[in-house]
This record gives sequence, structure tokens and C-alpha cells, in this order.
Amino acid sequence: MPPVADPSPRLLAESLLAFWAEAGVDAMLLDEPLDRIEAGKFVPPPPPGRAGQPSASVSPIRPAAAGQPDVSAAIAEAQALAAQAKTLEELAERIAGFEGCALRHEGAATRAVFARGRPDAPLMVIGEGPGADEDRQGEPFVGRAGQLLDRMLAAAGLTERAFITNTVFWRPPGNRTPTPAEQAVCAPFLERAIALVEPKMLLLVGGASAKAMLKREEGILSLRGRWFEWRSADGALELPALPTLHPAFLLRQPAAKKRAWADLLTLAERLDRPHRPE
Ligand code: URA
Repeated sequence: MPPVADPSPRLLAESLLAFWAEAGVDAMLLDEPLDRIEAGKFVPPPPPGRAGQPSASVSPIRPAAAGQPDVSAAIAEAQALAAQAKTLEELAERIAGFEGCALRHEGAATRAVFARGRPDAPLMVIGEGPGADEDRQGEPFVGRAGQLLDRMLAAAGLTERAFITNTVFWRPPGNRTPTPAEQAVCAPFLERAIALVEPKMLLLVGGASAKAMLKREEGILSLRGRWFEWRSADGALELPALPTLHPAFLLRQPAAKKRAWADLLTLAERLDRPHRPE
């Protein structure tokens, strides 16, 4: 039998990456590998008299991030950039160039994901943050959850009436929930988008969106289906806002779809209700 040639390092690397991707590991978070087994070992204190010398048996652990990001400075910068944007295209450009959101530097995000839909839509749909598919394609809600959202909007006659975006514009690593600080840094851009689109109402998709937008602590199961008044940070804008269940949750819990469907019908009914001046 002829000897089998060793696979090339490239083939080996590709096969290993495919294995990890299949297992759901699809993002690199650090430039250098971190040995978490080694990092988790108990490090005995240095013997007296030798304080400050590193232990020879355990490798030093690099901190995940050097220093804390200055959130207030990032919010101020986001406010200034957002205020300059006179159109949605200008806003998208400023978001793409913004360095102040920690998510942008965390390794899972390859690009900013801003929005899709009609720029003059009467309804703004606000989700949590981009996932892997959105990060790849550069548009919000294009993965499995997004396809379900699209089917629900279509069934409620809302497809052509919706502008879709998120509370953060970069993919959180491992699809974790964005932190309040990350959402606060992105909020000036989101508020500017609302000011430019001028929707009549907001649909807040999922707990992370509802809590951030409404500054509420309750869970989504208690918030969903109830109307709230959303207010911009400067108080200049006010809109009715309806929280609903996230389509990713509905994919895991199909029995909850009827509650989300009821929310969409409530929303569609209010959208079509003639406005009567008070
Ligand atoms: N989930 C969200 O909340 N937003 C997206 O864009 C995709 C999935």
C-alpha cells in the first residue's frame, strides 16, 4: 500500500476550524491563546522575602482588557457624532467609524451592523444586538430569528412599514446580552435614528431591548404586550413603545408564539388607528 501523505498544515488548520465552527465556536476573542486550565490553577503566595517575583510553575495571566473604557467620554463622542448626521446614510457612516463601543474591539464583531427597512417607516423595530449572521452580512435580523421576525411582520402586514435596528451595533462575543454600558454608548446613535426616521411607534424586541429603552427592571414576560411611553435622553422625543418576545426565544419556545402574535396585532391596530388630536 502506498504511504499516505501527511495532510498539509493548512488542511489541518482548516479542518480544526471547521470542527470548532460546528461546535459553535465561531469567534476569536483574544489575539493570543489563553490557557484557562493553567489560569484557573491555585497560585500559592510567594514565600516570605521573595514578594513580587513571579512563580516559576504558573504562567502569568494577561488581563482580558487593560483598564476600564471611559464610558462617559464614549457617550459624549457618540452624541457629538450622531448630532452631525443629517441623514441615515451619514449616521451609518458615523457609526461605522466610531471606536468608542467596547464591542467593536472584542473580536466577535467584524463590522458595524446598523439598520434595514424603510427610512420613512411608521414603525421602528429595535432588537438586542447583531448575531453571527448579521455580523457576516452587515444587516440586522437576517439569521434564523430574523427570518421568523420577517414572517411575523409580513403576516401582520407590517413588512413595508418597518425600520429595523438594534440597541448595539456590533456583535457581542458568544451572542451574550449587551451590557448596559455598551447600550448606553450606542444610545445616542439609536436616538438619532429615531429622530431621523420619525416613526409613530416602537416595537421593542426582547428583554434586553425593552429594559434598556424603557429603563425598567422587570423581565420581558411581564413587560410584553403593555404600552409604555419611550422618551429620548433630552426629553425632546416621546413615542409609544410596545415590548414583545424575541424571535430567538420563540424558536426555542414555539408555544409562546401566540403571545408575540397578539402583541403584533395590538401594534398593527394602533398603527392604523386614526390619530385624534386631544
Ligand atoms: N437578534 C437581535 O436582537 N438582533 C439581530 O439583529 C439579530 C438577532
